Amino acid sequence: MNILYIGDIMGEPGRETVRLLLPNLRKELNADLVIAQAENVSHGVGITPQHMDELISFGVDAFTGGNHIYKKDGIHSRLKDTKSPIIGPANMNVCPGNGYISVETANGSVLVVSILGSIFPLKDGESTENPLKTIDTILEDNNGKHHVATIVNFHGDWSSEKIAIGHYLDGRVSAVVGDHWHVPTADARILPKGTAHISDVGMTGALDSCLGVELDKIIPRWRDGVKNKNELEVNKPWQLNAVLISTSSSTEAKLITQIHREIN
Ligand SMILES: [Fe+2]
Repeated sequence: MNILYIGDIMGEPGRETVRLLLPNLRKELNADLVIAQAENVSHGVGITPQHMDELISFGVDAFTGGNHIYKKDGIHSRLKDTKSPIIGPANMNVCPGNGYISVETANGSVLVVSILGSIFPLKDGESTENPLKTIDTILEDNNGKHHVATIVNFHGDWSSEKIAIGHYLDGRVSAVVGDHWHVPTADARILPKGTAHISDVGMTGALDSCLGVELDKIIPRWRDGVKNKNELEVNKPWQLNAVLISTSSSTEAKLITQIHREIN
């Protein structure tokens, strides 16, 4: 089956990009399932239930989560609800829910898992369990349940950890899709034992920005140490970054293709 995974949807420009592009993209790519990274949907930090419903109406079927996913209170009940198609990292102490979900599709049930890297800039009170051991437990818990595909989202900061978990899960899941950097990497490929992998999908939102934030805020910070707040860049051009994964089973994929679109 064809699974489209959309990288971090960053604020209103990200949501608008999905609204404008996804209906046609779904048809063009023959996508059976659309998954998106939701941790930056609502003004860059977390996602509200309203924005989640809006993105579902644009064609997103399920949502993964990074370190910010739990930061809007209204989403907690959905993160806990195994019938609601949104998860946060399975190994993050403060995030509600178990971090994985079975998503029903016309082709069968797909297991979607979110994991946070262990080397990560966390806030006070936030911590993680070992990601590799966490995914072992999740795969054991789901052993015997029939899934036509298994997609693992790895929200991580270190390239070595992103590569390591890809190979650790090679031949055990359909795909390991990295994100968090908001910058796509050029390493999408099928690993030796058949699992699709990319270190980072990149983001969806303002193109002429620093990871979605106004350059006028970020450059003075780097040049002169100016202490200012992030402001989201809202002006076009906007970009959508995604990968299309053609899976063959819950442990293998045939193809992973990077997708990049712009709106001027
Ligand atoms: Fe993000």
